[in-house]
Amino acid sequence: MSGIDYSEKIPNNVNLSEDRALQRALEQWQPSYLDWWRDMGPSGSQGLDVYLRTAVSVDPQGWAQFGYVKMPEYRWGIFLGAAQTDRRIHFGDHKGEPAWQDVPGEHRANLRRIIVTQGDTEPASVEQQRQLGLTAPSLYDLRNLFQVNVEEGRHLWAMVYLLHKYFGRDGREEGEALLERRSGQQDNPRILRAFNEETPDWLSFFMFTYFTDRDGKFQLCALAESSFDPLARTTKFMLTEEAHHMFVGESGVARVIRRTCELMNELKTDDPARLRAAGVIDLPTIQRYLNFHFSVTIDLFGADESSNAATFFSSGLKGRFEEGKRDDDHVLKGQTYQVLALQDGQLVEKEVPLLNALNEVLRDDFIRDSVAGVDRWNKVIEKAGIPFRLKVPHKAFHRSIGALAGAKVSPSGRLLSQSEWQAHVDQWLPSASDRALVMSLMGRVVEPGKFANWIAPPATGINRQPADFEYVRFN
Ligand SMILES: [Fe+2]
Ligand SMILES: [Fe+2]
Repeated sequence: MSGIDYSEKIPNNVNLSEDRALQRALEQWQPSYLDWWRDMGPSGSQGLDVYLRTAVSVDPQGWAQFGYVKMPEYRWGIFLGAAQTDRRIHFGDHKGEPAWQDVPGEHRANLRRIIVTQGDTEPASVEQQRQLGLTAPSLYDLRNLFQVNVEEGRHLWAMVYLLHKYFGRDGREEGEALLERRSGQQDNPRILRAFNEETPDWLSFFMFTYFTDRDGKFQLCALAESSFDPLARTTKFMLTEEAHHMFVGESGVARVIRRTCELMNELKTDDPARLRAAGVIDLPTIQRYLNFHFSVTIDLFGADESSNAATFFSSGLKGRFEEGKRDDDHVLKGQTYQVLALQDGQLVEKEVPLLNALNEVLRDDFIRDSVAGVDRWNKVIEKAGIPFRLKVPHKAFHRSIGALAGAKVSPSGRLLSQSEWQAHVDQWLPSASDRALVMSLMGRVVEPGKFANWIAPPATGINRQPADFEYVRFN
């Protein structure tokens, strides 16, 4: 079951050839997907030979094979994680019943919405990142960008497979619509706000893959608990791909920081103007990018109080992060959770039913996980002997969704007046001049083993290749 059949038009491990109607429907969707890739995939990349990994098995060990691929010829396919025999529902009102191999009628609309919302983020990020290849700081980074892009494309395939197989005509229509929406477009945008923001430069890209792909990890982990077994198995395999995306983000930001610290020590200065003149990104600017991406990403978890979240959990559609490792009753009725609220001009903690607060629970799990990487970035600064520390902003900072939407709160959590906010916002979020500075540093470096001035080389290559390996061939 874990082996993948590459002899077919659509590589898969789901015995696609045994379901002719489904196979035909997906083979009809395939050219539309490739058209979308040509239009909205990485700019100017069609003819490049890229050293990419391709899945050859869904086993945790050794699933990847590396080789040069022209991206339009990448073998996108349908890979489900191994089936678990006699899998049972382990949370919510159906706890103890067998997991569903098909979609129960009463949960059809909600499941479809969950799958479409997840599916929509995948092509969105490819669209957001499509110009980055033109300013890649090295071949190593260019290859990593493309790896992330082809895998987000495959994640779209994963969701479209579920839509086609389990949702009939509605599902096929959703599959088409996923190729029609466009990130940032006025009349037909992507569904979620963070996926309509631009990713114009590489610092944004690294922050995005660190924070926003990590949102993906938490959403996928919650769906990997689902009672709808095909969704659980699909998302389990997607998670193995997601790990690399977050690695690209974490190591990318770490390398930017390392290079800045080198220059700070060399020039014996922490003056942003001097560092910028020397062609690196000063630490306060990195902090502002962090503030932006963190705050926009935590909005993705949705409103802090949500009856939908309660329904999704109780009906068994979406669990909590690591549901199986928690030692409560997994039904959660009658329990409470603390959320933040605005009351009489103050931020206060408020107790609400736990089931209604499950978006907040997932957001808090995400925050704990993302803080750990920020601590690792701080180790780089500390090792350079520089007395500066990065910090994730307060949960209420710069929020657009839920009870805190629109509240003016400083990164340290102080409630502000509109005028105080205006007076300080350029210290907290990237200003137009920050963005212009970062953009001005971007320039394509294509000589093997060379890196742009603003970023340090990685500790090791991909697939243990040497530093000067030719990750992308321009022919
Ligand atoms: Fe993804
Ligand atoms: Fe991702």
